[in-house]
Amino acid sequence: MSVIADPVSGREGARDVAVWDPLVRLIHWSLALMILLNGAITDDESKLHEWVGYVALGLVGLRIVWAFIGPRHARFSAFRPSIARAVQYTRAVMRGDRTVHLSHNPLGALMVYNLWLAVIGLGVTGYMMTTLRFFGVGWLEEMHEGLFVWLIFSVALHVAGVAFDTWRSGVNLVRAMVVGRKRIPQGTDVE
Ligand code: HEM
Ligand code: HEM
Repeated sequence: MSVIADPVSGREGARDVAVWDPLVRLIHWSLALMILLNGAITDDESKLHEWVGYVALGLVGLRIVWAFIGPRHARFSAFRPSIARAVQYTRAVMRGDRTVHLSHNPLGALMVYNLWLAVIGLGVTGYMMTTLRFFGVGWLEEMHEGLFVWLIFSVALHVAGVAFDTWRSGVNLVRAMVVGRKRIPQGTDVE
């Protein structure tokens, strides 16, 4: 943690806190790239589509392992899924609370699990489509497509949530996912 001058106000006292280690950042942007490739660029019926899908699945698998053994803010214990906490957080936000969360905020945490589950679902249904038993089965193709639609809808909400929380808390969250540090305005509560 280091004390620096706030770049906007020029005041001393804003804190730069290391939150996302390099592996979390690498996994995040690689995963986003794999989804973009498979959603918009690869041919659905190609081997490339399958491999890109497996890489996405592997990235989520690696991130889940990292959530057990990685640094503090990357761990499951830092962003447990809890509807009660998400509701509490939403109420606090509506009251104008500006608390900064070093890991994911409780609503963001629910979104993280949802995004991971959607990618796992895509990987599993994708693999099943390549097996003799399920090859050409209509409902499975529809499930794969449905999961993709759900993922894109979720990503749109995710990016809107990131923009909203950046505005609410005054911490540039995208910068944090790039450089690894959250710049916390002076006098803000941190959780
Ligand atoms: C397909 C696209 C995307 C997927 C699947 C995705 C998924 C995720 C996941 C799973 C996390 C949790 C990270 C972790 O703890 O390992 C996360 C966090 C984050 N993502 Fe994305 N993301 C996508 C696109 C984006 C884009 C386009 C942006 C920027 C505008 C973005 C900004 C962020 C930020 C800032 C966080 C950290 C939020 C926080 O501070 O709590 N993501 N994303
Ligand atoms: C992140 C992971 C993945 C994403 C985002 C993704 C996305 C998509 C999308 C958008 C389609 C077109 C759906 C349609 O309009 O019909 C599709 C089709 C398909 N995907 Fe994936 N996919 C992923 C993983 C996989 C994996 C791992 C496999 C196989 C190992 C796979 C196999 C297929 C196949 C065979 C089709 C064609 C289905 C058909 O004939 O309608 N996908 N996928």
